[in-house]
Amino acid sequence: MQGDIIDAVVKSVDQQCAIVDPFVGSGTILTEALIRGLDFTGIDINPLAILVCQAKAAIDDGVDIEGAARHVVETYRLDVTETIDVNFPGLEKWFDQPAAIALSRLRRSIASLQDVDGRKVMWTLLAETIRVCSNSRTSTYKLHKRADTDKTGGAVIPTFEENVRRALKRIAEYRFLIFNRPTPPGVQVFCGDVRNVVLESDTGKHRLLITSPPYGDNRTTIPYGQFSYLALRWIDPRDLPQATPGLISTSHTTDTASLGGSLKDVAQKAAMVRGVSPTLDKFLASDRSGRPEGTRKVAAFMFDFVDGLRNLRDTFSGQAHWVITTGNRTANGQQVPFDDICSEMLSHLGARPIAAVKRKLPTKRMPSKNSMGAMITAETTLVAEFA
Ligand SMILES: C[S@@+](CC[C@H](N)C(=O)[O-])C[C@H]1O[C@@H](n2cnc3c(N)ncnc32)[C@H](O)[C@@H]1O
Repeated sequence: MQGDIIDAVVKSVDQQCAIVDPFVGSGTILTEALIRGLDFTGIDINPLAILVCQAKAAIDDGVDIEGAARHVVETYRLDVTETIDVNFPGLEKWFDQPAAIALSRLRRSIASLQDVDGRKVMWTLLAETIRVCSNSRTSTYKLHKRADTDKTGGAVIPTFEENVRRALKRIAEYRFLIFNRPTPPGVQVFCGDVRNVVLESDTGKHRLLITSPPYGDNRTTIPYGQFSYLALRWIDPRDLPQATPGLISTSHTTDTASLGGSLKDVAQKAAMVRGVSPTLDKFLASDRSGRPEGTRKVAAFMFDFVDGLRNLRDTFSGQAHWVITTGNRTANGQQVPFDDICSEMLSHLGARPIAAVKRKLPTKRMPSKNSMGAMITAETTLVAEFA
């Protein structure tokens, strides 16, 4: 769908387009931009998201991934060292000793690769291996110890080797997709907070900001920070974005630093953001749940979200189309009309609304135990224009 939207906008403007995704995540829109040969700028607060996007950009740029995979596999197969090379609070809880030894061998072999781009792709395969092989359940984004009877986890080396095989196959398919592309596009991805990111932004091209933002704070909707924490503790810090160390000091730091992650000054924030959106004002006024915490979290998130949109408008000033796909989550047993709120926020910031397209989500990929996410069955794509 995002690819079709990009095509429609590119067709309708009489100028070259450059794509921006300020909540780039693992880079769905990055890939859609790249296969169309369009320049791309991405932002995300999560260091693992940025690493994944850098790996995708490296693949696009022709990194020798077969060579990197061969080096890594040959190196760890010869490694008989039994040391565990990382240490962080909870290491023994989340990793059995054999898993930690195997991961250390993988880590050493990846770190010994000369090519930084090859290392970045390999780290993403290690991250996926860690997701499956740690003692945390795979059915939820939160860190939750698996039950002893839960046998879903895999052994480290076979899981990694399967990940390598799958990646090589998909990379071959990707190369086929971009085979006929005339010129390789430029890619920039930044680990930062949309509320204060400062970017050099004048490309002379028509800007298309297209994104799927968080629907609520990263703690109570999808805790992306917590989800990425274990992998980030294993990846060599020299290959992570600069902003990373503070963000992984605990499993919660990234989620706290994300939109809506802090309730500091929430009363003032709520008062300010109510003036931006009549629908949000009504939502906050109508809460009779007796659980003000939920409403306060919604207010804190909305304040941060519009703050981020304002910074993006100022950063990427000038003529632009914005396409934002939103979902309406539930808080305190009440649906939060984020689609209408977001639309009002865009108008407040000076955008001209063009369209709001709703679609049902028959197969939204969600972890089975995330009740917040499971309730999102439709999404609305808002299209607006800044003159
Ligand atoms: C719904 S996800 C984006 C998913 C993405 N479209 C994809 O396909 O993978 C929202 C993203 O917003 C990021 N995020 C949350 N707060 C942020 C902030 N203050 N600045 C930048 N990114 C933030 C999260 O880390 C998460 O990756």
